[in-house]
Amino acid sequence: MIRHIHIDNYRSAKNISLELSQLNIIFGPNGCGKSNIYKAIHLLSGAASGQLSSMLSEEGGIQNTMWSGSERSSHRARRLCLSCETDDFDYELQVGFPDKLPYPTQFDLDPIVKEEHIWLTGFNRRPCSQVLKRKNQAVFLTNVHGEKVTHAGSIYENESFFGQLGEPHLYPEVSQVRETIRNWRFYHEFDVSRKSGIRQPQVGFRSPILSGDGNNLAAAFQTIVEIGDIELLTEILESAFPECAFFCINDHARFSMMMNRKGLSRPLESSEMSDGTLRFLCLAVALLSPRPPQFIALNEPENSLHPQMLPALAKLISEASRYSQIWLTSHSPELANLISKHGVFQLYELSMTNGQTNIHQL
Ligand SMILES: Nc1ncnc2c1ncn2[C@@H]1O[C@H](COP(=O)(O)OP(=O)(O)OP(=O)(O)O)[C@@H](O)[C@H]1O
Ligand SMILES: [Mg+2]
Repeated sequence: MIRHIHIDNYRSAKNISLELSQLNIIFGPNGCGKSNIYKAIHLLSGAASGQLSSMLSEEGGIQNTMWSGSERSSHRARRLCLSCETDDFDYELQVGFPDKLPYPTQFDLDPIVKEEHIWLTGFNRRPCSQVLKRKNQAVFLTNVHGEKVTHAGSIYENESFFGQLGEPHLYPEVSQVRETIRNWRFYHEFDVSRKSGIRQPQVGFRSPILSGDGNNLAAAFQTIVEIGDIELLTEILESAFPECAFFCINDHARFSMMMNRKGLSRPLESSEMSDGTLRFLCLAVALLSPRPPQFIALNEPENSLHPQMLPALAKLISEASRYSQIWLTSHSPELANLISKHGVFQLYELSMTNGQTNIHQL
């Protein structure tokens, strides 16, 4: 479980620290920084899969991602710092701009990993507990024999060390941290527009995990039917859509979702379903994964759902929180109220002052 997250200089999250519980709900007005914190944690996970530079470029580059408030140290001197402490390890990633280079280059705004550290939890970051220490391209790590060694190969400066870790069996602690962080899952705004993959048949394979874009919805649904908790999925879908029944068909391994509705003489295809129906299906299939991850983050999942769907969504979230730690950003006090009927959670309220997100634990 993630115990603590710290973020410096990621958009409006200039300096944010939070203690996490099993189920965490984050509220706040528009523009206060809820999605920024979600994206910062997503970036940390992406870095563990070797996607730091590409994710930052999708966000407009490090020059846009770095907190843009005024401060004495220059913009370029600052660092974007992301860290998380779990039951087992404490990981920190610091990203900044390139130093002044002695040769001409157009890549002078590339993100550069300045420092990267892993400590084992419970030692207050003492040197004896450090299993990875990176300063620029120099990496020191602890091997399978407990020896501190210098990494021999050259390191790509635009990426986390995790994406470049060869021979993971020689560095079991470091590779375990990588596996943990890159298996976190993030779901935000499923695209259900007319041409989206969710509305088209997709070549499927057994999928215990819904992809972030939801395009393998039908295959992931069928995987729950075959090896997951189909009773719970059916119960939740019946309470959300009382006159409907969902099923998956496949034509030469092209999987599609179908829906029978009382009063209609033929089933409807996913291309004919409503936006909210498809989004809810995606959430249900993501949260009832037969292979629950350690951590699931949902960004504003109630968007485009009618309030009458909220009891079913609350049940889904509380069921998922039995197996996975949940991070939920939301605009809906009603959703939090409904989740509270199923169990306890930690509530945070965000606000914005002087261009910085502030966090209050309620
Ligand atoms: N580089 C930056 N430096 C400082 N602030 C930034 C930066 N980039 C974006 N912001 C601020 O972040 C805020 C947007 O935050 P975010 O998208 O997380 O809001 P939100 O709470 O999710 O809002 P909503 O409820 O509308 O989705 C905006 O107010 C914007 O001014
Ligand atoms: Mg948002």
